[in-house]
Amino acid sequence: MATAPSFPELPLFDLRLEPQDLEAVAETLRSGWLTLGPRTAAFEEAFAEQLGVRHAIAVSSCTAALHLAYLAAGVGPGDEVIVPAFTFAATAAAAVYCDATPVFAEISSREQPFIDFEDVERRITSRTKAVCAVHYAGYAAPVDRLKALCDAHGIALVEDVAHAPSATLKGRKLGTWGQSGCFSFFSNKVLSVGEGGLLCTDDDDVAAFVRSRRSHAMTSGTWDRHSGRTDTYDVVALGYNYRLDEPRAALLLSRLGRLEADIERRRELTIRYRELLSGVEGIVVPFSGDEIAGSSCYVIPIMLERDGTQGEVSAALRERGIQTSIFYPSIHRFSAYRKRFPDISLPVTELASRTELTLPFYPHMSYEDQDRVVTALSEVVKP
Ligand SMILES: Cc1ncc(COP(=O)(O)O)c(C=O)c1O
Repeated sequence: MATAPSFPELPLFDLRLEPQDLEAVAETLRSGWLTLGPRTAAFEEAFAEQLGVRHAIAVSSCTAALHLAYLAAGVGPGDEVIVPAFTFAATAAAAVYCDATPVFAEISSREQPFIDFEDVERRITSRTKAVCAVHYAGYAAPVDRLKALCDAHGIALVEDVAHAPSATLKGRKLGTWGQSGCFSFFSNKVLSVGEGGLLCTDDDDVAAFVRSRRSHAMTSGTWDRHSGRTDTYDVVALGYNYRLDEPRAALLLSRLGRLEADIERRRELTIRYRELLSGVEGIVVPFSGDEIAGSSCYVIPIMLERDGTQGEVSAALRERGIQTSIFYPSIHRFSAYRKRFPDISLPVTELASRTELTLPFYPHMSYEDQDRVVTALSEVVKP
């Protein structure tokens, strides 16, 4: 007999929408126009302005954005894309969609769990078409140095900005350093609407390619025909259905107005979490306090000093009503990838995956709940 689900009292993530968000969606549903149309265009314009880029193209997910970013970079059969393995599977899977090989690079350390610059440099070959940097947890990967490296080799830098809307490095928004920046609006993200994504770029050719391929490379869309601009279309290449729909675009537009305030609250809570966590023995807290100002503070990752205790610490917290998650299991250790790449060894990445735990965190989290998580952690972690 199936057991009833038992939801934790303190979940990893909690979403709170405002009445104006619900009204924006309801108004869209009442309008009778539900797919790619004026609300998507309005959201794209607002997002591009907020980032300071020429083009923001909404798509159905960050995975779709990554696929189109790699294709736009010319990635094809036999090519290589250098990616971290300490990320969600999508960063690598999108390279496989292009019949290319994901080449896994190490992260720098558990304190700086970003793709390692020197290891990327070592792994560049004549087949490398792109490097993808993930701004893990909302903090900036070294895209300034990676951009210079990619430029020197004539390859594309793609930024996986799934965690980091409105975050910055040296005052410049993440997602705008590379050829393309790929955002996620998945349900637990900083700007979440269930499913959705966006690709930003300053490159007009990349933008034209992505706009075309997100909707089957048709020369006109349903909205163009509905609004009388044209009544026919051609299909000029192999494209995809990677369209965003209008209710989600309306929700994104409504929520975008509060993004900065949400992130400010996340920063405040992150600073407080880190102060409390500094009193817990037996853990490493990634990043430095200095990095918070430029971060979107998506999640609170910690690393356990004692290897081999991740399962028991997570279970003990679950017993106390606290949910945790592993951000992320190493991609090359998943069955599908292990079969294809049996000999890969990335010791720093693997140690991070074996010792990482992500703690409950959301902008309306109370101080009391933060205290509860940290007290429980200090009870269950053995230094
Ligand atoms: C780092 C990273 N890249 C890519 C993705 C894929 O995003 P989506 O679910 O929008 O396709 C995610 C989301 O889970 C992610 O965390």
